[in-house]
Amino acid sequence: MVTKIAVFASGSGSNFEAIAEAITRGELDAQIELVVTDKPGAFVVTRAQKFNIPVLEIAPKMFATKADYEAAVVEALREKDVKWVVLAGYMRLVSDTLLAAYHNRIVNIHPSLLPSFPGKDAIGQAMEHGVKVTGVTVHYVDAGMDTGKIIAQGAIGVVEGDRESTEQQIHELEHKLYTQTLKQLFEV
Ligand code: GAR
Repeated sequence: MVTKIAVFASGSGSNFEAIAEAITRGELDAQIELVVTDKPGAFVVTRAQKFNIPVLEIAPKMFATKADYEAAVVEALREKDVKWVVLAGYMRLVSDTLLAAYHNRIVNIHPSLLPSFPGKDAIGQAMEHGVKVTGVTVHYVDAGMDTGKIIAQGAIGVVEGDRESTEQQIHELEHKLYTQTLKQLFEV
């Protein structure tokens, strides 16, 4: 049965697009019911329009509290009967309201081999440290910063000083690993 999902993104949305393309190719039995962005006008909105997927552009500052913001998001997800929340470059901590509504049904992708280099600019952090191997992690989401239970990881070799090629390898791996992992999760 097709799994109804929402993809959350704050920026470019290349992971969103990779998932949408995998669905179009018939590789992932899911339907993206809604894209949610906390950054109105982010490039992910343009990408979603290309696939005719509705977008909720919702800035937390429109609400008095984070709980109110998340309650509005949960209401929109329920209206669309969304079963899984897929974070794809959503640069905000998730808290109680959303976690309670989607217990063990929120996943995230992060561009490092967690628990190393959580938070922002994980690729930069890894290169700064001089690691020779880095990678990508898909994990369940809890209230911490990139701390939930790990579901899948993939590794790449780092070309010292070459951020561009490292970033490119990371993104290529993300696009493959996220789709494969979602497929496994939704088949259970
Ligand atoms: C991706 O590299 C994703 O792993 C990262 O943001 C990027 C979004 O790219 N997420 C995090 O760092 C979460 N802590 P995209 O907008 O092109 O999909």
